[in-house]
Amino acid sequence: MIRDRVRMDAYTEALRRSVKPGDVVIDIGTGTGIFALIACQLGAKHVYAFEPNPLIEVGKQIAAANGFADRITFIKDFTTAVTPPEQADVIVGDIRGQLPFLYPNISTYHDAYHRLLKPGGILIPKRDKLFAAFYEATDEYRDVLLTPWVHNPYNLDMSAALPMILNAGWSAGLSQEKVNIVLPGQQLDTLEYGLRSDPRSASIVEWEVEQAGTAHFLYIWFDAELIEGVTYSAAPGVSDRPVVYGSSQYPLLEPLSLQPGQIVRLSFNADLLSENYIYRWKTELFANAADKAADKALKRFNQSTFFARPLDGIHKRSPSFTPTLGKDGKLQAFIFSRMAEGNLTLQQIAASALSTFPDSGRDQTSMLSLVASLSQSFSQ
Ligand SMILES: C[S@@+](CC[C@H](N)C(=O)[O-])C[C@H]1O[C@@H](n2cnc3c(N)ncnc32)[C@H](O)[C@@H]1O
Repeated sequence: MIRDRVRMDAYTEALRRSVKPGDVVIDIGTGTGIFALIACQLGAKHVYAFEPNPLIEVGKQIAAANGFADRITFIKDFTTAVTPPEQADVIVGDIRGQLPFLYPNISTYHDAYHRLLKPGGILIPKRDKLFAAFYEATDEYRDVLLTPWVHNPYNLDMSAALPMILNAGWSAGLSQEKVNIVLPGQQLDTLEYGLRSDPRSASIVEWEVEQAGTAHFLYIWFDAELIEGVTYSAAPGVSDRPVVYGSSQYPLLEPLSLQPGQIVRLSFNADLLSENYIYRWKTELFANAADKAADKALKRFNQSTFFARPLDGIHKRSPSFTPTLGKDGKLQAFIFSRMAEGNLTLQQIAASALSTFPDSGRDQTSMLSLVASLSQSFSQ
C-alpha cells in the first residue's frame, strides 16, 4: 500500500492540507504507522494510532527511529473499542479492501466521526463513489471460465464447478489497456463517510446500448475524495490510477450479446452477512423500453458471491441450530478448561490433552503447537 504512489500522494496531500501545527490526529488502522508519521512531520501535537494487528509493534519502532515516539500513542485495538483521552482535529484512515466494502469500514467511520472527531474536524476520506461498467473480454472469458470447466482437454466433465466460478469476484489481471468497455461507467452509490451508518449498498442503473458488442464481465470500482479537491480514481483505463485496490470484476452467467437500442438494467447489492460482504448482481437485457415496462427480459442473470463458496455446513449457522461438539471441538474445549485453571504451563496442558485424547491423531509436537496457538489468541 505504501508503494502505491497515486494513493500515497493523494493521502499525503490531504494530510498536508488538513493537519495544522498543534493538531490532535487519530490514525485508524495505522499498520506500520505511515499516516501517523506524516501527521507528525506536518506538526501534529499528538497522534493516536490505532491498529489491532501485531504489526503495530513495527510501527512503534519506526516512530522511535524517526524521533516521533513521544508524539504518537499506539493503541493495539479497534477505534470502536477504545476512547482516546482527547478528540481529534483530523481523523485519517484507509481501511478499504478491493472495494470500499470491507467490514467494518463504514461503521468505523460513522463511529469515529460522531465520537472521536472535534466538531468541525476533518475526516479523511470524505467519500467514495461507486461505479459500474460492462466490458468485453472474449479470450479471458473462454480461457478462465470455459476452459477447463467446460471444454477441457482431458475429456472430463468439470462443469459442476462452473456455478462457483461464475459467481466469484475475479481480480485476475486484465491489463488496463485490454479493457474494452461496452457499457460505460455509471455511478451506483456514494459512501459519505461519517454520515452514513448503513453498511449495505443497493443500486439500480440502466444503459441504453449505443453500439453492438458483447458483455462478458461487470466491472466495479470507486473514486475516492479524500478531502474537497483531493481525489483519485480506480476506474479502468485511467493512467494515474492507484493499483493497490485491485479491480473487482464479476463474470456474467453467459456472454451477453448487445444490439443498439436495447436496454441493460443492473441491480447491484453489497450485503453484510456475518461480518463478510456478499455481492449480488442482477443483469437484465430488454429489447426496448416497452418490453422493459412489461418486464419482458431477453436475458436475466441473477448472480451472487454467496454461491462462490461451497455451502457445506451452512445449516450450522442457523439461529435455530442446536450445536454439539465434534471431536476437535471437544479437544479444544478441554484445552480451554485447563487454561481456565490458570496454573498450568502449555507443556502440562498439552500432556494432559494427549493422555485424555489418545486418538486425536496428534503427537507431542503438534498438540503443543495447537495449545500454543490457542494460548496466543485467547490467553491474557
Ligand atoms: C490496509 S491497512 C492500512 C495501513 C496504513 N494506514 C496505510 O494506509 O498504508 C488497514 C488497517 O486497518 C486496520 N483496521 C480496520 N478497522 C480498524 C478500526 N476500526 N480500528 C483500528 N484499525 C482498524 C486493519 O487491521 C488494517 O491493518
